[in-house]
Amino acid sequence: RIDEQAIRALPKAEVHIHLEGTFSLHDMLVLAKESGVTLPGPARTIFDISTHDDFSAPSVTTGGGTGAGSAGLTGFLRFLDWQCGLVRTPEQAARVAYAFAARQTASGIRYSDVIVNPTHWNAWRGRELDLLAALSEGFDEAAQDGLCETGIAYSLLRSQTAREAEDIVAALTYRRPERVVALSVDGDEKVTGRTGEKFQAAFSRAAVAGLRRTVHAGESSGPAGVWDAIDLLRAERIDHGVRSIEDPALIERLVRDEISLGVCPRSNVSLGIYPDWASHPLPRLLDAGVRVTLNTDDPVPLGTTLEADWAVAAAQFGFTEADLAGFARRSIEASFASDDLKRDLL
Ligand code: ADE
Ligand code: ZN
Repeated sequence: RIDEQAIRALPKAEVHIHLEGTFSLHDMLVLAKESGVTLPGPARTIFDISTHDDFSAPSVTTGGGTGAGSAGLTGFLRFLDWQCGLVRTPEQAARVAYAFAARQTASGIRYSDVIVNPTHWNAWRGRELDLLAALSEGFDEAAQDGLCETGIAYSLLRSQTAREAEDIVAALTYRRPERVVALSVDGDEKVTGRTGEKFQAAFSRAAVAGLRRTVHAGESSGPAGVWDAIDLLRAERIDHGVRSIEDPALIERLVRDEISLGVCPRSNVSLGIYPDWASHPLPRLLDAGVRVTLNTDDPVPLGTTLEADWAVAAAQFGFTEADLAGFARRSIEASFASDDLKRDLL
């Protein structure tokens, strides 16, 4: 088994991680106390809370899901709404951002593209750019203190309307907060269905405005969403994309266009996309020549760290230290960091 300390020592980036999935138990308890909110059930670990009945009531639309409650991804997204709803002030938002950078640094991560989906932060409705400004204060302070550098991927929730998406891109074009580097889409594909056409205009305007593009697809639904992300949204990266393995023509396209997949095997297993690590398509994607990065998605509620997940992947799939060094290099290459920063990190 490859030692986690050796993995931490590899200079690397993380490109598929949600800020919403990184609140520590301590920070969450303090936020709840400050906001006068009672916790759902006994607060022993974040995992206990994220799998509480309040969030894991079975949903008619999803059916599946194991580790994170019977509602799988849907219930998990309800937990994120509840938790991010605890953040009410700019100081609290900055604190969450700073803690994120410290946590990433502890895993040896030098740069993160962090996904922020303001719809989860329900106290900030109508003030989304103020939320980003407050988070940026925390990311700035962290960078000044020598912690992990951060770029923000502003994420649309899959259920938002075309109009909402276009308004967001217009706002970002008019006053782009400095750290916002990309537009993203996340949320449950199974609940919303295909969203490529709906978000096509927003993504096209984002591209013109110089925003990079990364899209959640091929997670709770199959290859069609990945095709839409590439053809309609001009995605440069796919978050998850693991179910591309079901379509050989799609695999060929990912290889040809060098579109990387931000794969998160533990998340897929915990949220019921695959029953166990052994059934995960990661090794088949690599064998097919797809550019794959290895990420955590939502490490705290999933009870993990990047180094733990890389160590499990190595044990499961027989990766050597040289393979892990390859993942580290690819994570930096696939990131939306500036060319100067990439040069420093590689
Ligand atoms: N938001 C946070 N985690 C997510 C996931 N695994 N899939 C879709 N949206 C998410
Ligand atoms: Zn994700």
